[in-house]
This record gives sequence, structure tokens and C-alpha cells, in this order.
Amino acid sequence: MEKIIEESKQGESLVLEQKPENTKKLFIESYGCQMNFSDSEIVASILHGQGYNTTQNLEDADLVLVNTCSIRDKAEQTVRKRLEKYNAVKSINPGMKVGVLGCMAERLKSKFLEEEKIVDLVVGPDAYKDLPNLLAEVEEGRDAINVILSKEETYGDISPVRLNSNGVTAFVSITRGCDNMCTFCVVPFTRGRERSRDPQSIMEEIADLHAKNFKEITLLGQNVDSYLWYGGGLKKDYEKASDMQKATAVDFAQLLDMAATAYPKMRFRFSTSNPQDMHEEVLHVIAKHHNVCKYIHLPVQSGSTRILKEMNRQHTREEYMALIDKIRAIIPNCAISQDMITGFPTETEQDHQDTLSLMEYVNYDYGFMFAYSERPGTLAARKLEDDVPEEVKKRRLTEVVAMQRQLSLNCTEAFVGQTVEVLIEKESHRSDAHWSGRNSQNTVAVFPKEHYKTGDFVMVRIDSCTSATLIGEAIGYSERMQ
Ligand code: SAH
Ligand code: F3S
Repeated sequence: MEKIIEESKQGESLVLEQKPENTKKLFIESYGCQMNFSDSEIVASILHGQGYNTTQNLEDADLVLVNTCSIRDKAEQTVRKRLEKYNAVKSINPGMKVGVLGCMAERLKSKFLEEEKIVDLVVGPDAYKDLPNLLAEVEEGRDAINVILSKEETYGDISPVRLNSNGVTAFVSITRGCDNMCTFCVVPFTRGRERSRDPQSIMEEIADLHAKNFKEITLLGQNVDSYLWYGGGLKKDYEKASDMQKATAVDFAQLLDMAATAYPKMRFRFSTSNPQDMHEEVLHVIAKHHNVCKYIHLPVQSGSTRILKEMNRQHTREEYMALIDKIRAIIPNCAISQDMITGFPTETEQDHQDTLSLMEYVNYDYGFMFAYSERPGTLAARKLEDDVPEEVKKRRLTEVVAMQRQLSLNCTEAFVGQTVEVLIEKESHRSDAHWSGRNSQNTVAVFPKEHYKTGDFVMVRIDSCTSATLIGEAIGYSERMQ
């Protein structure tokens, strides 16, 4: 995630420790955002208690689960192709059962069972605890489905198994669902209303990761700034909470402060922030703690106030710029990244130019850019004609991507000559003689391994760069190592 959609991870299958008494084999793979990858760890953990060990070999599986994404049409097409592949494998292994999890399951519900004959099981993002019952039905030869969305479910009581982990960085989910109803987005429909997880269970999960020697945690949610715990329940029902519940409520700034204070030797990140919900207090918490990374992923989607309004984003171009100014004033050296959509209905050439000029104003460190994809059932699909021709969407996307590449290069060049703290995560994929890690601003840095090892915080002098990577040499351990 690292935004949240990491292309290299798409379709990655998960493997966890094997329980010798487990006889059945589960193949589980995930598409889409980091939340899906986290959810798959919860699912694997539930099924581990139901006699399943994971396998990376599709042909061996008794049960194949695919955790799906609906965010753009292309994401759904990728999953349909995978179903074709499973179908081919089923001809070799007819006993194999296939289940669809996640956002496509929620969006298409029982239609999946009708459209895709190969699918035996359909489970929405809030129903994973029902998997043992659903599997029992499947084993008796019936199709099974549960796509009920929940007001409370946060899986706070399930300790997710860490799969394919580097043992250094981990994600901890803090909210589920989203109440924002951006007009282009399926998430509120597929993941339900927003609810926050009990801070105590969050702190326990962090304590467990700390004990296992993890060094960096990313607090995860569709909209982390909106985090609000007042004893459980939906965010929208907060108004109905008692005075006592309100007085003891915990918001995102407090949660982040609590975590950073409790574990000064760990680093904390968070994703995703939302301009309309990001308040000044959280900026002061980020500035105050040396171990809260100076990086905010702050999607804007468009630089045109008129388009922002059509998207139901609750701020103007000017308000967003004012927030950027505030971030720059409170947290000097903070990296900022964006999500952008090109070709939203009615977008004119002038709107597009406004997007480009906003990007220049912010000088984004990174970006995740997409051509608009109409999603059935969203307000935009119901109310607005998808009227920007595909080639115009694509051309604008190319221009936005080119602009971002230039801005990213400006940002990485600014690090050349500086010494930055890097947490070593893994071997560089380009060279087995180099480590790869990230600095506080989330920029990847590579440098010769020498005597350092994964999980070390090291000071790296940056000698050169590309638009995405800093290249340098370690000059010693960071103070955090003492
Ligand atoms: N709050 C979420 C956003 C999830 S969707 C988060 O945690 O990141 C991720 C990004 O996909 C959005 O910010 C948006 O830029 C893009 N997106 C969502 N719906 C889209 C659509 N219909 N067409 C194109 N891009 C879309
Ligand atoms: Fe989607 Fe907007 Fe929420 S992009 S996830 S509805 S903040």
C-alpha cells in the first residue's frame, strides 16, 4: 500500500506454518488493497483451526479461496480470469472447492453462484467467522453464501497469522468500512459502514508484534483519520453515545500518540488519510514523535473544485491546498502522496489542467493514478453519464503520470547529499549485495549490505537517485539501535 495496492503483490498466495494434525489443503490468494491482504491472514487463521494447512500449489488444494477487489472493472476481470484457471485445475482435481471472498463477493452476491458455475462458496468481508459453518454446507454438496455486512465486526479478537512476512514490517487494521460515499467508489457498498476497532485489542496486537521483533507498523483503514472508539458500534451512531462514552472516546490522534509513546523503538505509519477528516491534532502528534514517519498519503482525486463536488469529496481545491500548507508548516520534511482519477464524468480540459497545477503546487512525492472506471450501483453510475472518451481518459492519465514522475524525481533528488535513517526490510531485488529499506518519508533506499542485517535501523548517506529510489552507503547504526 505501499499504498495500498501494491502491484507486485497482486495474486500472491499465502502460506503459513503447518499444523501436523491438519489434513486439508487451502490455497488462498489476494487481490486489491492492503486490507484484503490483511483479511486473508484472518481467514487463514480461522481455517487453520478447521483442519486446513496452506499450500502454494493450486493443483494440490482441497479448497481454493480468492480474496477479490471491485474498485475498478479491470480488478474484477483479473479475478474472472483466475476463476477460469481454477476451472481448468478442477478437471484434474474434481474434489476441489472454490470460494470467492471480499468485495466482489459482496457486490455480486448470489449472482456469482449463477454466473460462475465453478464457485461453491461466496463470503463477504464481514462474514469470515461464519466460514466453518459455510464450509460444512459445502462439504454436504450445497453452495453456501453469507454476504451480511455487520455493524460491529472488526475481527479484533482474531490474532492474524503473519504470512509471507519479512518479519520487520506489519499492518494492523484499525477501522473497517467507509462512510464517505465518494460518488465513484464501491467501497461503502462492499465493505459497509465505518466502525473502529477497540484500542486495547490494537495495542495488544502491536505488543505481540513488538515481542516478535517487528520494527515498523502501519495502522490501516479506508480512512484512518476518522477512527473513533467509544465502546463499539458504527461511527455514525456516535451522536447517540452516552456522556461517559463520549468522555472516554479515543480518536486517531490519541491512538497514534498512545502507540508511538508505548514503543519508542518501533516506527509507525498509517494509511489512508482523508483530507476532510484530517485534523490539526494528528499533525502535531506526527511532528512530536520521532518514531511516527513523516509521510501522509492524502488522496485528492482531482484538482478541480467543480469535479471534487461531483465526486462528493467534502472540500474544495483551496481547502486542500490550505491543509497542505498546514502540513508543511507543522511537519517540515513531510512526504505527501496522492490518488488521482482522470476522466471523471464531465471533466473538461480545464479541470484536467487544474489537476496538473495542484500536483505542482503540492509537489507530491508519489502518486497512484487511475482512469475513471464506472462502477455499477455507485451514485456516479446512477446520476452521471460516463462521458469522457476512453482515449481522452488515457491521455490525461499519461500526462498526470508524467507530471508525477517529474515531481517524484525532484523529491528524491532533494535527498542526495543527505544522511537518512533507513529500516532494512529485505534484499534489493536488483542485487543480492545490497539491502533495501525505506526512510521516514517512505522512499526506498538501497545500499551495500556490509555487516548490517534485516530489521536494523541504519544511517545511510544518499549519493544518487532515480525517480523512485535513493542509492547510497550506510555510515553506521541509527540512535534507535542503542
Ligand atoms: N480510502 C481508500 C480508497 C480506496 S480506493 C484507501 O484507503 O486508499 C483507492 C483509490 O482507487 C481511490 O483513492 C481512487 O483514486 C481509486 N478509485 C476508486 N474508485 C475508482 C473508480 N471508480 N475508478 C477509478 N479509480 C477509482
Ligand atoms: Fe472510497 Fe471515498 Fe471511502 S474513495 S473508500 S468512499 S473515502
